[in-house]
Amino acid sequence: MSKLPPGASTLPLAPWRSPLARALHRNRSRPDSRYLQLATVRSDGRPANRTVVFRGFRDLSDDLLFITDTRSDKVAPLAGHPHAEACWYFTQTREQFRLNGQLTLVTAATTDPAWSELRHRLWQAQSEKSRQSFTWPPPGQPRQAAGFDQPLPSEPPDPFGLLVLIPTWVDHLELRGTPQHRYRYDWTGDRWVLAAVNP
Ligand SMILES: Cc1cc2nc3c(=O)[nH]c(=O)nc-3n(C[C@H](O)[C@H](O)[C@H](O)COP(=O)(O)O)c2cc1C
Repeated sequence: MSKLPPGASTLPLAPWRSPLARALHRNRSRPDSRYLQLATVRSDGRPANRTVVFRGFRDLSDDLLFITDTRSDKVAPLAGHPHAEACWYFTQTREQFRLNGQLTLVTAATTDPAWSELRHRLWQAQSEKSRQSFTWPPPGQPRQAAGFDQPLPSEPPDPFGLLVLIPTWVDHLELRGTPQHRYRYDWTGDRWVLAAVNP
């Protein structure tokens, strides 16, 4: 599962990066502007959805970074169902971005030095509280009385994983204005194509 696809490493950055950067900037006073919903597919084909924190873009790419516990339910199905969609609503500017693509998992078993270095970097960037949560007993299992007081490791422990969303389709809806504005960005395999569409 930690085998990485080549990814759409693009320079210059994708055309949807500019409106997304603008939204992040204009909504920066609200801490929840970095929360988004990430939908995946369960092993039986049913949808799964949850809130995650956007941790930035991978350097020189359009890949979105998230952290997660590799023992959580969202992770195992990715081996067979890597498709995912992020849905991000910015309350201040009233705009929605939907980013659809594939998720890749970076774990302690990932051997590529660049990915391993990125995993270490994001571990170092976490608060103590966030790091501690990766020493807790497995998420989703029956609650235990003990096991929440493990020592804080300096190196990322095995449960610390990165989720990397490589978008191939982006839908941007601006609610402001009548009629509203909506833009579709499609990755054709070698470039992004932008189209204004009806809201
Ligand atoms: C505001 C907020 C931020 C969250 N951030 C993350 C996150 O960055 N990564 C993560 O794996 N779970 C995060 N969670 C918890 C997830 O929503 C979810 O409960 C957990 O990951 C288990 O999901 P799963 O059972 O689908 O694997 C966050 C929850 C909330 C409410």
